[in-house]
Amino acid sequence: MNQAEKEQYLREYALLKNEGKPFFPYAVAKDALMAVIVMIVIMLLSLFYGAELGPAVNPTTTTYVPRPDWYFYFLFELLRVMRNAPKLTDMATLGVPTLCMLGLFLLPLYDRSPERLITRRPVALAAGLATITCMAYLTYTGANTGSPNQVVLPVPPGLTQSQRSTFLAGEIIVGESGCEGCHQIGSYGNNGPGPKLTHIGTILRPGAIASTLKDPIAPMPSFASLAQHSPKEFKQLVEFLSMLQ
Ligand code: HEC
Repeated sequence: MNQAEKEQYLREYALLKNEGKPFFPYAVAKDALMAVIVMIVIMLLSLFYGAELGPAVNPTTTTYVPRPDWYFYFLFELLRVMRNAPKLTDMATLGVPTLCMLGLFLLPLYDRSPERLITRRPVALAAGLATITCMAYLTYTGANTGSPNQVVLPVPPGLTQSQRSTFLAGEIIVGESGCEGCHQIGSYGNNGPGPKLTHIGTILRPGAIASTLKDPIAPMPSFASLAQHSPKEFKQLVEFLSMLQ
């Protein structure tokens, strides 16, 4: 903006201010009216449609998949991406959003450009688009993640068709059996109290894996009943673990 433009603007501003109406009560009355209309619409919606509370809580369920509300999916996904770096979790979930909010808050202090046309503000435009893209991507992936005890490992190369399906079945059985509560497998599960199972196939032979599962050392629970009641699944589980090379 050059000097002439600036003077022109100040002239127009003074003119408008001269003939303009004061903020109170004119603008305030308009805002208040709009606020009342919005409140009435919300009240009518809640009266006629009610709020969705979801199914009643079942304290005995073990398959419940906890999920935040959709507008928190981006934070949820950020936390999930960081699940194997506990030291960085606070930085990612508290630090990054706080820094972004701070950046927005301080915007009038560091963006002193008089330009208002969006095409003349490439940095603001890029920053805005990048933020929207990141949040949309994180929201989308957060909404489409599987259950927290799901294991999805790369299938080892060179497997036959039936070994492949055993591998995929094993991943599901591991997820359903809660092994990840105590064992880390690849980037999944907790690091301890049990040892990592990522390469268990190179450490124990299938027979040793099977006997550990049936007759483990505490605190690991015994999976003897799985062997008894679902021998096929037990065999797939042992074969899957042996393939973790
Ligand atoms: C409550 C926690 C817990 C759960 C659940 C659990 N484990 Fe373990 N597991 C352990 C602990 C602790 C050890 C180490 C025991 C020891 O001292 O030998 C262990 C040892 C093992 C070992 C032997 C590892 C080695 O290097 O010798 C295997 C294999 C194993 N677990 C597989 C599994 C599988 C598969 C599942 C799920 C079907 C599972 N565990 C569930 C706690 C657990």
